[in-house]
Amino acid sequence: MATIPTLPLTRPSTAESKSTMTGTDAQPGSSVAYPVIDELPDRLNEQHHITTATLGFLLHPHIPPPPPPGTPYKIADIGTGTGIFLLSLAPTLPPSTHLIGFDITPSSFPPLASHPPNITFTTHDMLTPFPPSHLSTFDVVTARFLSSATPRAAWEQTIRNLVTLLKPGGWLQWIDSCNFQVYCAVPGTSRAACREVYKELEPFRAEGAVVGLMMRDAGADASGGREEVWRGCGLVEVHEDVFSTDRLVGDQGGEWAGLREKGTRNVMECFLGCLEGLVGVEGSGWTRERWEGVKAKVEDEVRAGVYHTLDQVCLVGRKPVD
Ligand SMILES: C[S@@+](CC[C@H](N)C(=O)[O-])C[C@H]1O[C@@H](n2cnc3c(N)ncnc32)[C@H](O)[C@@H]1O
Repeated sequence: MATIPTLPLTRPSTAESKSTMTGTDAQPGSSVAYPVIDELPDRLNEQHHITTATLGFLLHPHIPPPPPPGTPYKIADIGTGTGIFLLSLAPTLPPSTHLIGFDITPSSFPPLASHPPNITFTTHDMLTPFPPSHLSTFDVVTARFLSSATPRAAWEQTIRNLVTLLKPGGWLQWIDSCNFQVYCAVPGTSRAACREVYKELEPFRAEGAVVGLMMRDAGADASGGREEVWRGCGLVEVHEDVFSTDRLVGDQGGEWAGLREKGTRNVMECFLGCLEGLVGVEGSGWTRERWEGVKAKVEDEVRAGVYHTLDQVCLVGRKPVD
């Protein structure tokens, strides 16, 4: 089964995806074959809490606060996964807000009874036009950790598609990650296995530059022109913030003690899951034995103090009123 683990923190998921993507299917805009990998809901939820701690917000402060209760207000989350973003956002908004989570597959959606009635979940492929009933109806559209679903050539197409959901004056927010690095906290510690895992994902990145990790290939400017892509899609007041995952997470203890190790385990679990999708794939070089050996070494390294950093990128932009 082929597919792509392009970005850390962004693995394609689900049984449904598995049934619709074949071994050589490539995402639109890319000729890369993508290993299809199941996303783990617990990992996604943990990733959400770590990311929110790093950014310090769910909705970027440039996005105006919601209108008074009772005024129609709609938020869409694209590639919503477990819906954890909307589930965390809902209590901060008037109950009259309607929140809709879209995903290509319902496999990670929370059970109906477990979420407030003003949150709904529905399936949709973000690369295809949305139903007319949704067009120009949303005040805010958010997307997070979808880079593996969006090779660079498809990213602009995706942004244009998401803009169709926005009301005039509505805001788009996209959060993703790039610039993975591995560090030692203790002298003499090996980083070899963690680096091997990261390096082994490289062939999947080369061809399909995407918004997060892959954008680093776009040139010396770390932003890789993301803001320009958004302006080219007609958005205004475009702004990008980049936060390092080590912003709050040191080894000094306190509120964030343990978060760095947790975050490293989370991202390595994601990477290893991507590589696991290659086990047995002809020509990949990955056998079950090799994968298990590397996984055990990663565990040893993280336990010994090896940790990662990532840049968390948040882009916001507004659809013009006219
Ligand atoms: C790494 S998860 C991120 C989930 C969620 N945004 C979060 O931050 O917790 C990526 C999600 O994107 C979804 N996805 C992948 N391709 C998609 C597409 N073309 N359209 C909509 N959703 C997609 C996957 O099913 C998965 O739930």
